[in-house]
Amino acid sequence: MTDVEDRATAGFRSAYGQEPAGRWAAPGRANLIGEHTDYNDGYVLPFALSLRTVVAAAPQDGDRWTVWSETTDGQIEFVAADVDEPGRVTGWGAYVAGVVWALREAGHAVPGARLAIASDVPLGSGLSSSAALEAAVLTALVDLGGLDLPAERQPRLAQRAENAYVGAPTGIMDQSAAIRCRKGHALFLDCRTEEVEHIPFDLDAAGLAMLVVDSRAPHRHADGEYASRRKSCEAAAATLGVPALRDVSVADLDAALPKLPDDETRRRVRHVVTEDQRVLDTVALLRAGRVREIGPLLTASHASMRDDFEITVPEIDTAVEAALAAGALGARMTGGGFGGCVLALVEAAAAVTVAQAVTDAYAARGFTAPGHVTVLPAPGATRLD
Ligand code: GLA
Repeated sequence: MTDVEDRATAGFRSAYGQEPAGRWAAPGRANLIGEHTDYNDGYVLPFALSLRTVVAAAPQDGDRWTVWSETTDGQIEFVAADVDEPGRVTGWGAYVAGVVWALREAGHAVPGARLAIASDVPLGSGLSSSAALEAAVLTALVDLGGLDLPAERQPRLAQRAENAYVGAPTGIMDQSAAIRCRKGHALFLDCRTEEVEHIPFDLDAAGLAMLVVDSRAPHRHADGEYASRRKSCEAAAATLGVPALRDVSVADLDAALPKLPDDETRRRVRHVVTEDQRVLDTVALLRAGRVREIGPLLTASHASMRDDFEITVPEIDTAVEAALAAGALGARMTGGGFGGCVLALVEAAAAVTVAQAVTDAYAARGFTAPGHVTVLPAPGATRLD
Protein backbone atom coordinates (compact mmCIF):
# COMPACT_ATOMS: atom_id res chain seq x y z
CA MET A 1 0.00 0.00 0.00
CA THR A 2 1.25 3.45 -0.77
CA ASP A 3 2.09 6.02 1.84
CA VAL A 4 -0.90 7.64 3.53
CA GLU A 5 0.07 11.13 2.34
CA ASP A 6 0.19 9.92 -1.26
CA ARG A 7 -3.14 8.15 -0.91
CA ALA A 8 -4.84 11.33 0.36
CA THR A 9 -3.35 13.34 -2.51
CA ALA A 10 -4.25 10.75 -5.14
CA GLY A 11 -7.76 10.52 -3.71
CA PHE A 12 -8.11 14.29 -3.87
CA ARG A 13 -6.95 14.43 -7.48
CA SER A 14 -9.23 11.68 -8.69
CA ALA A 15 -12.28 12.88 -6.72
CA TYR A 16 -12.01 16.54 -7.69
CA GLY A 17 -9.72 16.72 -10.74
CA GLN A 18 -7.57 19.40 -9.15
CA GLU A 19 -4.55 19.74 -6.85
CA PRO A 20 -5.09 20.17 -3.08
CA ALA A 21 -4.11 23.50 -1.53
CA GLY A 22 -2.39 21.63 1.27
CA ARG A 23 -2.26 18.49 3.40
CA TRP A 24 -2.70 18.13 7.14
CA ALA A 25 -2.10 15.12 9.38
CA ALA A 26 -3.16 14.06 12.86
CA PRO A 27 -2.08 10.91 14.72
CA GLY A 28 -3.77 8.09 16.56
CA ARG A 29 -2.76 7.78 20.19
CA ALA A 30 -1.92 5.31 22.90
CA ASN A 31 -2.49 6.24 26.51
CA LEU A 32 0.52 5.38 28.66
CA ILE A 33 -1.54 5.61 31.84
CA GLY A 34 -4.62 7.40 33.21
CA GLU A 35 -7.73 5.56 32.01
CA HIS A 36 -11.27 6.88 32.53
CA THR A 37 -9.78 9.75 34.49
CA ASP A 38 -10.32 12.46 31.86
CA TYR A 39 -14.08 12.88 32.33
CA ASN A 40 -13.46 12.88 36.07
CA ASP A 41 -11.39 16.07 35.67
CA GLY A 42 -8.24 14.08 36.42
CA TYR A 43 -4.88 13.35 34.80
CA VAL A 44 -3.86 11.44 31.68
CA LEU A 45 -0.55 10.68 29.97
CA PRO A 46 -1.08 9.76 26.30
CA PHE A 47 1.43 9.85 23.47
CA ALA A 48 0.86 10.14 19.72
CA LEU A 49 1.57 7.29 17.30
CA SER A 50 3.20 7.49 13.91
CA LEU A 51 -0.03 6.03 12.47
CA ARG A 52 -1.80 9.08 11.02
CA THR A 53 -4.90 10.35 9.29
CA VAL A 54 -4.13 12.70 6.42
CA VAL A 55 -6.51 15.25 4.92
CA ALA A 56 -5.78 16.84 1.54
CA ALA A 57 -7.98 19.90 1.08
CA ALA A 58 -8.76 23.01 -0.93
CA PRO A 59 -11.31 25.77 -0.41
CA GLN A 60 -14.54 25.84 -2.42
CA ASP A 61 -17.17 28.55 -2.77
CA GLY A 62 -20.17 28.70 -0.51
CA ASP A 63 -20.94 26.93 2.77
CA ARG A 64 -20.44 23.55 1.20
CA TRP A 65 -18.19 20.66 2.24
CA THR A 66 -17.43 17.73 -0.02
CA VAL A 67 -15.55 14.82 1.52
CA TRP A 68 -13.98 11.78 -0.10
CA SER A 69 -12.78 8.94 2.11
CA GLU A 70 -10.59 6.03 1.11
CA THR A 71 -12.36 3.78 3.62
CA THR A 72 -15.54 3.80 1.56
CA ASP A 73 -14.01 5.14 -1.65
CA GLY A 74 -17.08 7.32 -1.68
CA GLN A 75 -17.97 10.98 -1.42
CA ILE A 76 -20.43 12.81 0.74
CA GLU A 77 -21.47 16.42 0.57
CA PHE A 78 -23.21 18.63 3.07
CA VAL A 79 -24.20 22.29 3.28
CA ALA A 80 -24.68 24.65 6.24
CA ALA A 81 -28.32 23.62 6.77
CA ASP A 82 -27.27 19.95 7.19
CA VAL A 83 -24.50 20.82 9.58
CA ASP A 84 -26.64 23.06 11.74
CA GLU A 85 -29.00 20.21 12.49
CA PRO A 86 -27.07 17.49 14.35
CA GLY A 87 -28.12 14.04 13.23
CA ARG A 88 -28.52 14.84 9.52
CA VAL A 89 -25.02 13.69 8.62
CA THR A 90 -24.33 10.20 9.95
CA GLY A 91 -21.62 7.52 9.81
CA TRP A 92 -18.01 8.63 9.35
CA GLY A 93 -19.23 11.90 7.82
CA ALA A 94 -20.61 12.91 11.24
CA TYR A 95 -17.05 13.40 12.55
CA VAL A 96 -16.34 15.84 9.72
CA ALA A 97 -19.71 17.60 9.90
CA GLY A 98 -19.37 17.71 13.70
CA VAL A 99 -16.13 19.65 13.42
CA VAL A 100 -17.69 22.13 10.97
CA TRP A 101 -20.71 22.43 13.30
CA ALA A 102 -18.59 23.02 16.43
CA LEU A 103 -16.52 25.67 14.64
CA ARG A 104 -19.61 27.47 13.33
CA GLU A 105 -21.27 27.26 16.71
CA ALA A 106 -18.22 28.90 18.30
CA GLY A 107 -18.65 31.78 15.84
CA HIS A 108 -15.94 30.94 13.32
CA ALA A 109 -16.40 31.65 9.62
CA VAL A 110 -15.60 28.14 8.38
CA PRO A 111 -14.50 28.11 4.75
CA GLY A 112 -16.32 25.80 2.35
CA ALA A 113 -13.90 23.04 1.33
CA ARG A 114 -13.20 19.90 -0.63
CA LEU A 115 -11.48 17.26 1.46
CA ALA A 116 -9.94 13.85 0.82
CA ILE A 117 -9.16 11.59 3.76
CA ALA A 118 -6.79 8.63 4.02
CA SER A 119 -5.73 6.94 7.23
CA ASP A 120 -3.33 4.41 8.71
CA VAL A 121 -5.03 4.48 12.11
CA PRO A 122 -6.96 1.21 12.39
CA LEU A 123 -10.69 1.66 13.05
CA GLY A 124 -12.10 0.19 16.24
CA SER A 125 -8.73 -0.74 17.76
CA GLY A 126 -8.87 1.73 20.60
CA LEU A 127 -6.17 3.96 19.09
CA SER A 128 -8.57 6.88 18.55
CA SER A 129 -9.10 6.93 14.84
CA SER A 130 -12.07 9.23 15.46
CA ALA A 131 -10.01 11.88 17.28
CA ALA A 132 -7.36 11.65 14.55
CA LEU A 133 -10.03 12.34 11.94
CA GLU A 134 -11.51 15.23 13.91
CA ALA A 135 -8.09 16.75 14.56
CA ALA A 136 -6.93 16.44 10.95
CA VAL A 137 -10.11 18.04 9.61
CA LEU A 138 -10.06 20.75 12.28
CA THR A 139 -6.43 21.68 11.60
CA ALA A 140 -7.11 21.81 7.87
CA LEU A 141 -10.17 24.06 8.22
CA VAL A 142 -8.53 26.37 10.77
CA ASP A 143 -5.56 26.78 8.47
CA LEU A 144 -7.52 27.14 5.21
CA GLY A 145 -9.81 29.75 6.75
CA GLY A 146 -7.11 31.56 8.72
CA LEU A 147 -9.34 31.07 11.80
CA ASP A 148 -8.26 32.45 15.15
CA LEU A 149 -8.19 29.21 17.13
CA PRO A 150 -4.87 28.41 18.82
CA ALA A 151 -3.93 24.75 19.31
CA GLU A 152 -4.65 24.80 23.04
CA ARG A 153 -8.30 25.65 22.37
CA GLN A 154 -8.80 23.10 19.62
CA PRO A 155 -9.21 19.89 21.69
CA ARG A 156 -12.29 21.21 23.51
CA LEU A 157 -13.88 22.07 20.19
CA ALA A 158 -13.11 18.67 18.66
CA GLN A 159 -14.46 16.99 21.80
CA ARG A 160 -17.66 19.01 21.42
CA ALA A 161 -18.00 17.67 17.88
CA GLU A 162 -17.78 14.14 19.24
CA ASN A 163 -20.02 14.68 22.32
CA ALA A 164 -22.75 16.90 20.91
CA TYR A 165 -22.74 16.05 17.20
CA VAL A 166 -21.62 12.42 16.94
CA GLY A 167 -23.20 11.68 20.32
CA ALA A 168 -20.36 9.86 22.12
CA PRO A 169 -19.89 11.06 25.73
CA THR A 170 -16.08 10.91 25.69
CA GLY A 171 -13.60 13.00 27.67
CA ILE A 172 -10.94 15.31 26.29
CA MET A 173 -7.93 12.99 26.23
CA ASP A 174 -7.99 11.70 22.67
CA GLN A 175 -8.48 15.05 20.98
CA SER A 176 -5.79 16.60 23.20
CA ALA A 177 -3.36 13.85 22.27
CA ALA A 178 -4.11 14.13 18.55
CA ILE A 179 -3.56 17.89 18.63
CA ARG A 180 -1.04 18.69 21.37
CA CYS A 181 1.43 15.77 21.57
CA ARG A 182 5.11 16.23 20.75
CA LYS A 183 7.59 13.80 19.24
CA GLY A 184 9.62 11.95 21.87
CA HIS A 185 7.28 13.04 24.67
CA ALA A 186 4.19 11.92 26.51
CA LEU A 187 1.53 14.54 27.13
CA PHE A 188 0.82 15.10 30.82
CA LEU A 189 -2.62 16.71 30.74
CA ASP A 190 -4.64 18.08 33.60
CA CYS A 191 -8.13 17.56 32.21
CA ARG A 192 -9.64 20.19 34.50
CA THR A 193 -7.35 23.11 33.69
CA GLU A 194 -6.21 21.76 30.28
CA GLU A 195 -2.66 22.64 31.26
CA VAL A 196 -0.09 20.38 29.65
CA GLU A 197 3.50 19.41 30.29
CA HIS A 198 5.49 17.58 27.64
CA ILE A 199 7.28 14.80 29.50
CA PRO A 200 10.38 13.35 27.78
CA PHE A 201 9.71 9.69 27.03
CA ASP A 202 12.84 8.40 25.38
CA LEU A 203 12.47 4.65 25.06
CA ASP A 204 15.52 4.21 22.80
CA ALA A 205 17.88 5.91 25.25
CA ALA A 206 16.66 3.57 27.99
CA GLY A 207 17.13 0.49 25.78
CA LEU A 208 13.39 -0.13 25.92
CA ALA A 209 10.57 -0.62 23.44
CA MET A 210 6.82 -0.16 23.64
CA LEU A 211 4.90 -3.00 22.12
CA VAL A 212 1.32 -2.35 21.08
CA VAL A 213 -0.74 -5.52 20.85
CA ASP A 214 -4.02 -5.27 18.99
CA SER A 215 -6.28 -7.66 20.89
CA ARG A 216 -8.58 -8.05 17.86
CA ALA A 217 -11.32 -8.62 20.43
CA PRO A 218 -14.69 -7.53 19.11
CA HIS A 219 -15.89 -4.40 20.95
CA ARG A 220 -18.67 -5.72 23.15
CA HIS A 221 -21.25 -3.13 24.22
CA ALA A 222 -18.41 -0.62 24.52
CA ASP A 223 -20.58 2.48 24.05
CA GLY A 224 -23.20 1.61 26.64
CA GLU A 225 -20.62 0.41 29.15
CA TYR A 226 -18.55 3.58 28.70
CA ALA A 227 -21.59 5.79 29.28
CA SER A 228 -22.63 3.80 32.35
CA ARG A 229 -19.12 4.08 33.89
CA ARG A 230 -19.21 7.80 33.32
CA LYS A 231 -22.64 8.12 34.94
CA SER A 232 -21.69 6.13 37.99
CA CYS A 233 -18.54 8.27 38.49
CA GLU A 234 -20.57 11.46 38.26
CA ALA A 235 -23.19 10.13 40.66
CA ALA A 236 -20.46 9.11 43.11
CA ALA A 237 -18.90 12.58 42.99
CA ALA A 238 -22.31 14.09 43.74
CA THR A 239 -22.79 11.72 46.69
CA LEU A 240 -19.38 12.69 48.04
CA GLY A 241 -20.17 16.37 47.58
CA VAL A 242 -17.23 17.13 45.25
CA PRO A 243 -17.30 18.61 41.73
CA ALA A 244 -15.53 15.54 40.29
CA LEU A 245 -13.65 12.43 41.48
CA ARG A 246 -10.43 14.33 40.80
CA ASP A 247 -11.16 16.09 44.09
CA VAL A 248 -10.85 12.85 46.07
CA SER A 249 -7.26 11.84 46.88
CA VAL A 250 -5.88 8.43 47.80
CA ALA A 251 -5.57 9.67 51.38
CA ASP A 252 -9.30 10.49 51.39
CA LEU A 253 -10.38 7.04 50.17
CA ASP A 254 -10.84 5.34 53.53
CA ALA A 255 -13.23 8.04 54.63
CA ALA A 256 -14.97 8.40 51.27
CA LEU A 257 -15.71 4.78 50.31
CA PRO A 258 -18.14 3.98 53.17
CA LYS A 259 -20.31 6.91 52.08
CA LEU A 260 -21.00 5.27 48.72
CA PRO A 261 -24.13 3.17 48.17
CA ASP A 262 -22.73 -0.16 46.99
CA ASP A 263 -19.62 -2.21 46.39
CA GLU A 264 -19.65 -1.63 42.63
CA THR A 265 -19.63 2.17 43.04
CA ARG A 266 -16.87 1.90 45.64
CA ARG A 267 -14.71 -0.05 43.20
CA ARG A 268 -15.37 2.40 40.36
CA VAL A 269 -14.29 5.28 42.60
CA ARG A 270 -11.24 3.42 43.87
CA HIS A 271 -10.11 2.86 40.28
CA VAL A 272 -10.38 6.52 39.31
CA VAL A 273 -8.75 7.86 42.48
CA THR A 274 -5.84 5.42 42.45
CA GLU A 275 -5.41 5.82 38.69
CA ASP A 276 -4.97 9.59 39.05
CA GLN A 277 -2.24 8.89 41.62
CA ARG A 278 -0.57 6.38 39.29
CA VAL A 279 -0.41 9.05 36.58
CA LEU A 280 1.29 11.45 38.98
CA ASP A 281 3.71 8.72 40.09
CA THR A 282 4.51 7.81 36.48
CA VAL A 283 5.16 11.45 35.61
CA ALA A 284 7.51 11.78 38.61
CA LEU A 285 9.52 8.74 37.49
CA LEU A 286 9.73 9.92 33.89
CA ARG A 287 10.80 13.41 34.97
CA ALA A 288 13.61 11.73 36.90
CA GLY A 289 14.59 9.68 33.83
CA ARG A 290 13.64 6.40 35.59
CA VAL A 291 11.71 5.02 32.61
CA ARG A 292 11.99 1.31 33.33
CA GLU A 293 10.59 1.78 36.82
CA ILE A 294 7.16 2.75 35.48
CA GLY A 295 6.45 -0.90 34.61
CA PRO A 296 4.77 -1.86 37.91
CA LEU A 297 2.52 1.21 37.71
CA LEU A 298 1.31 0.13 34.26
CA THR A 299 0.57 -3.35 35.55
CA ALA A 300 -1.21 -2.00 38.64
CA SER A 301 -3.33 0.18 36.35
CA HIS A 302 -4.34 -2.90 34.42
CA ALA A 303 -5.34 -4.79 37.58
CA SER A 304 -7.45 -1.83 38.62
CA MET A 305 -9.21 -1.68 35.23
CA ARG A 306 -9.79 -5.42 35.34
CA ASP A 307 -10.95 -5.83 38.96
CA ASP A 308 -12.36 -2.45 39.98
CA PHE A 309 -13.50 -0.70 36.82
CA GLU A 310 -14.33 -3.98 35.02
CA ILE A 311 -13.56 -2.85 31.48
CA THR A 312 -11.24 -5.59 30.26
CA VAL A 313 -12.11 -8.72 28.28
CA PRO A 314 -10.50 -12.20 28.23
CA GLU A 315 -8.35 -11.50 25.14
CA ILE A 316 -6.95 -8.34 26.73
CA ASP A 317 -6.20 -10.02 30.07
CA THR A 318 -4.57 -12.93 28.25
CA ALA A 319 -2.30 -10.54 26.32
CA VAL A 320 -1.26 -8.71 29.51
CA GLU A 321 -0.59 -11.92 31.44
CA ALA A 322 1.40 -13.49 28.60
CA ALA A 323 3.48 -10.34 28.08
CA LEU A 324 4.33 -10.14 31.78
CA ALA A 325 5.14 -13.85 31.97
CA ALA A 326 7.51 -13.40 29.01
CA GLY A 327 9.41 -10.64 30.79
CA ALA A 328 7.59 -7.37 30.01
CA LEU A 329 8.41 -4.73 32.64
CA GLY A 330 4.77 -3.69 32.72
CA ALA A 331 1.63 -4.14 30.63
CA ARG A 332 -1.85 -2.70 30.50
CA MET A 333 -4.84 -2.18 28.28
CA THR A 334 -4.90 1.29 26.74
CA GLY A 335 -8.03 3.27 25.85
CA GLY A 336 -11.69 2.99 26.75
CA GLY A 337 -11.81 -0.79 27.13
CA PHE A 338 -13.88 -3.84 26.10
CA GLY A 339 -11.30 -4.65 23.44
CA GLY A 340 -8.70 -2.47 21.77
CA CYS A 341 -4.98 -2.59 22.43
CA VAL A 342 -2.52 -3.58 25.14
CA LEU A 343 0.75 -1.73 25.78
CA ALA A 344 3.73 -3.74 26.97
CA LEU A 345 6.92 -2.01 28.08
CA VAL A 346 9.76 -4.34 27.19
CA GLU A 347 13.54 -4.47 26.93
CA ALA A 348 14.18 -3.59 23.28
CA ALA A 349 15.91 -6.93 22.74
CA ALA A 350 12.88 -8.83 24.10
CA ALA A 351 10.17 -7.28 21.91
CA VAL A 352 10.02 -10.21 19.47
CA THR A 353 9.94 -12.83 22.23
CA VAL A 354 7.19 -11.05 24.13
CA ALA A 355 5.08 -10.59 20.99
CA GLN A 356 5.49 -14.29 20.19
CA ALA A 357 4.50 -15.27 23.73
CA VAL A 358 1.26 -13.29 23.38
CA THR A 359 0.54 -14.91 20.01
CA ASP A 360 1.13 -18.37 21.53
CA ALA A 361 -1.12 -17.65 24.51
CA TYR A 362 -3.86 -16.54 22.11
CA ALA A 363 -3.51 -19.71 20.05
CA ALA A 364 -3.71 -21.85 23.18
CA ARG A 365 -7.04 -20.22 24.06
CA GLY A 366 -8.41 -20.34 20.53
CA PHE A 367 -8.59 -16.55 20.06
CA THR A 368 -8.20 -14.82 16.69
CA ALA A 369 -4.47 -14.05 16.31
CA PRO A 370 -3.48 -10.62 17.71
CA GLY A 371 -1.60 -7.91 15.81
CA HIS A 372 1.50 -6.21 17.15
CA VAL A 373 3.81 -3.31 16.40
CA THR A 374 6.45 -1.35 18.33
CA VAL A 375 5.90 2.40 18.57
CA LEU A 376 7.70 5.61 19.50
CA PRO A 377 6.07 8.87 20.66
CA ALA A 378 5.22 10.91 17.54
CA PRO A 379 4.09 14.52 16.96
CA GLY A 380 0.51 15.82 17.12
CA ALA A 381 -1.52 17.40 14.33
CA THR A 382 0.46 19.38 11.79
CA ARG A 383 0.38 20.92 8.33
CA LEU A 384 2.50 18.83 5.99
CA ASP A 385 3.11 21.26 3.13
C1 GLA B 1 -11.92 6.77 25.31
C2 GLA B 1 -12.42 8.20 25.41
C3 GLA B 1 -11.47 9.05 26.25
C4 GLA B 1 -11.14 8.38 27.57
C5 GLA B 1 -10.75 6.92 27.37
C6 GLA B 1 -10.58 6.18 28.66
O1 GLA B 1 -10.74 6.73 24.56
O2 GLA B 1 -12.54 8.77 24.14
O3 GLA B 1 -12.02 10.33 26.45
O4 GLA B 1 -12.20 8.51 28.48
O5 GLA B 1 -11.71 6.22 26.59
O6 GLA B 1 -9.50 6.67 29.37
